Amino acid sequence: MDPKDQRVKLNDGHFIPVLGFGTYAPPEVPKSEALEVTKFAIEVGFRHIDSAHLYQNEEQVGQAIRSKIADGTVKRKDVFYTSKLWSTSLHPELVRPALEKSLNNLQLDYVDLYIIHFPVALKPGEGLFPKDENGKPIFDSVDLCRTWEALEKCKDAGLTKSIGVSNFNHKQLEKILNKPGLKYKPVCNQVECHPYLNQSKLLEFCKSHDIVLVAYGALGSQRIKGWVNPNLPFLLEDPVLSAIAKKHKQTPAVVALRYQIQRGVVVLAKSYNKKRIKENIQVFDFELTPEDMKAIDGLNSSIRYNELLLGVGHPEYPFFEEY
Ligand SMILES: NC(=O)c1ccc[n+]([C@@H]2O[C@H](COP(=O)([O-])OP(=O)(O)OC[C@H]3O[C@@H](n4cnc5c(N)ncnc54)[C@H](OP(=O)(O)O)[C@@H]3O)[C@@H](O)[C@H]2O)c1
Repeated sequence: MDPKDQRVKLNDGHFIPVLGFGTYAPPEVPKSEALEVTKFAIEVGFRHIDSAHLYQNEEQVGQAIRSKIADGTVKRKDVFYTSKLWSTSLHPELVRPALEKSLNNLQLDYVDLYIIHFPVALKPGEGLFPKDENGKPIFDSVDLCRTWEALEKCKDAGLTKSIGVSNFNHKQLEKILNKPGLKYKPVCNQVECHPYLNQSKLLEFCKSHDIVLVAYGALGSQRIKGWVNPNLPFLLEDPVLSAIAKKHKQTPAVVALRYQIQRGVVVLAKSYNKKRIKENIQVFDFELTPEDMKAIDGLNSSIRYNELLLGVGHPEYPFFEEY
């Protein structure tokens, strides 16, 4: 097997590549770039692609995957594709239509992983971010256990190979795990995770339940205006990361990715730059020492770039819990 194609087994028997390509770009970036960079990522060896209905690029990402299948670079079974159920579709009866909409945009028969994007329900049917006359998000009330049952049905129908969650705290995960009549456990919890927010407690919890933690924002996030506090420090400028990178003749970015893989975390890396997309694959070319790992662990400082503040005030807002 190609060393770039390292995978871990999910609790439902499927396998997920440990390095994934993040496809989100802010709205000012032309959607055509998603097509180009996703094709390039597959060409250089990425076999795990992460997107979502919310990113409004599934048409282009699907086109990229299909074109790399058509030209013989990969087979469908060798690409792991993740989509996400947005907050306006958490009502059980809206789940399957939402996944079918993604599949239609992608022009694929199935996704490999379908996850609940964010546990905060928003009012269905009024765009992605429904707001009242004062500009406040319009919340909705949905029992996440019922949403989960609808995801289980999508797996049974073959529309997705695996199902999981994102941005859940351990209590919300526990609620699903303890649900009477649970058919499938979540295979993963995709959360922000990097040396400044290393999620060690959530990781331990997930490992004890055979749930894979998937890290987003692993390079310090895109610091998108209006979403991320601009005063927070830049992860990739951290002196400890830089010194370790120098020692290994790597970059701080690749060290930040390697850190996750060595602690058993599946890691996403977003880049729309060909040089950096290629650079990120170097994560498989070296190893951090136990001392390096310990030094990076020491950087943990509870800095969350993506606070998703639009959910504050909703009973399921996940980030007031310690983990
Ligand atoms: N579930 C969720 O709620 C959620 C939330 C956020 C993100 N995600 C997913 O996770 C993916 C990754 O997270 P993210 O978007 O926050 O970004 P990220 O992976 O933390 O990357 C942040 C920035 O790092 C830069 N970068 C990439 N490689 C680099 C390198 N080798 N050296 C220096 N800089 C480098 C990229 O800029 P360039 O493009 O200029 O290279 C990118 O904008 C997203 O694309 C999305 O798929 C999920």
